[in-house]
Amino acid sequence: MCGIVGYIGKRDVAPLLLEGLARLEYRGYDSAGIALHASGTGKSAGLKTAKAKGRVRELEARLPKRFAGTTGIAHTRWATHGAPTDDNAHPHLDTEGKVAVVHNGIIDNAAELRARLTADGIVFASETDTEVLAHLIGRSQAETLEEKVREALRHIEGTYGIAVLHSDFTDRIVVARNGSPVVLGIGEHEMFVSSDVAALVSHTRQVVTLDDGEMATLKADDYRTYTTEGSRTTATPETVEYAAESYDLGGHDTYMHKEIYEQADAVDRALRGRIDDRFSTVHLGGLNLDAREARTIRRVKILGCGTSYHAGQIGAQMIEELARIPSDAEPASEFRYRDPVVDPDTLYVAVSQSGETYDVLAAVQELKRKGARVLGLVNVVGSAIARETDGGIYVHAGPEVCVVSTKCFTNMVVSFALLALHLGRIRDLSVADGKRIIEGLRKLPGQIDEILKGEDEIKKLAARYADAKSMMFIGRVRGYPVAREASLKLKEVSYIHAEAYPASELKHGPLALIEPAMPTVAIVPDDDLLEKNRAALEEIKARSGRILAVAHQDQEKADDTVIVPKNEPELDPILLGIPLQLLAYHTALSLGRDIDKPRNLAKSVTVE
Ligand code: F6R
Repeated sequence: MCGIVGYIGKRDVAPLLLEGLARLEYRGYDSAGIALHASGTGKSAGLKTAKAKGRVRELEARLPKRFAGTTGIAHTRWATHGAPTDDNAHPHLDTEGKVAVVHNGIIDNAAELRARLTADGIVFASETDTEVLAHLIGRSQAETLEEKVREALRHIEGTYGIAVLHSDFTDRIVVARNGSPVVLGIGEHEMFVSSDVAALVSHTRQVVTLDDGEMATLKADDYRTYTTEGSRTTATPETVEYAAESYDLGGHDTYMHKEIYEQADAVDRALRGRIDDRFSTVHLGGLNLDAREARTIRRVKILGCGTSYHAGQIGAQMIEELARIPSDAEPASEFRYRDPVVDPDTLYVAVSQSGETYDVLAAVQELKRKGARVLGLVNVVGSAIARETDGGIYVHAGPEVCVVSTKCFTNMVVSFALLALHLGRIRDLSVADGKRIIEGLRKLPGQIDEILKGEDEIKKLAARYADAKSMMFIGRVRGYPVAREASLKLKEVSYIHAEAYPASELKHGPLALIEPAMPTVAIVPDDDLLEKNRAALEEIKARSGRILAVAHQDQEKADDTVIVPKNEPELDPILLGIPLQLLAYHTALSLGRDIDKPRNLAKSVTVE
């Protein structure tokens, strides 16, 4: 949510920053801007900015003719304070135009600071919370830029990842982090900064991730990190796991399509090195939970948002089935506001692709404060949630660029299956059942590829259903979270209204909606609820509803059936949703939607 990129070195900075912004655009795409120290003398020198409402390409088209320098910062925005306009786009400047700031996060006391600064005669140029920071830095009497920034930050309540330029200190960029990621990219005679490694990897894979409460000064040949109080910290560069190509389209037209097709490899990666055939279990090195502790767990509570919450719902069922531990999932955003009873015998699991989602992070922090044991099931290595939890599982899906999550969902569910198997084998799951699940897990990548071979068929189905104004998704028990996730996928990428219900609940109200113009997508696995699911199809058919079934065998009552390969019943949810990712994709494509950047959304929701 919002992206920052900065560079200091010898190269022409504007094209570098534009390239970085394009890579970060998935985090926010309503406006963008650049500030740089312009090279030259006299009028042409000094701090220059360019900003534009809309996508990065609009900013590019609007760059002034003479806009060159070798040090600069840039931002792509997802609006929180103030509408997407040129004025509200970052960077924001102080009154004298000497300071430029880009900021991710939210300044909670911005209104109060703004009132105070306005009373002192400062005229604001934007409606943003960020602008207060530019004025506070500009007004500071401190001698160095580092001290000016530090002094300004003392007034700030809220979250931030910032990068700052000052025309009296052209040899440096000062950055700071509190609750919003800041990553330094270490090059040869050049330094980068970004909110996300995606913008760095095509230049360097050596990175330093700042901690909350840390600042850094970047110069072309050197960098140093320190706390916001000024004490030096040690920063050892780490090598980014994924190469630049992982962030490219790789021959696909959209990231969503690419990421759907990466799922077999991603699942393979999630399993690699973890299966222990000798004891029919799995090794999860990062859990930090020994067998004795695992046996004392009386409940599992999974917390996540959106797609990750749906993965958590499937995960809870898997843990309950395989480990026989009462388990459930809840939206993290709701959990922390209902003053929950935090039980020492409950294992809490925070699930998040980005590892940054504010609501999940805040729930983790609240739980930790109350002494709970919290694990993370996270994709982004070293992210805030991964750092703040007591241990966990990396889902290893690789970089996910499309705002709409697909491969991460699948790998989260696979990772939950691993956790369920691990806990089950420590408790009462038999060797034979452990072996059965392991064999099922090993079959998944091949079965995913088999499903994807049916893309042409699903494309035809999408054309048949794309005229719907609204769609119903139903499933029972294992199929219900699959229906919920499929309905979310369809609405966020195609903008078709969709509702998800347990099939058993239809007759308690939603059946009133059924008519030919409202098709139903039904999840109908071959499990012990098959006949019950078929009864629901009968009820819909009797009301002239159109039905698209996703099933293990042809469904007579359905108008269309997509057949999915059968795995073990506990693992079936992993496969049942995959054709529906393609359905959402092709429906959105036929409606001309912006697949990778759906309206109003952004990847990584780092605000409340
Ligand atoms: C939907 C989607 C969102 C995210 C949610 C949580 O396709 O991607 O619903 O799942 O915003 O994000 P993470 O997993 O990063 O915590």
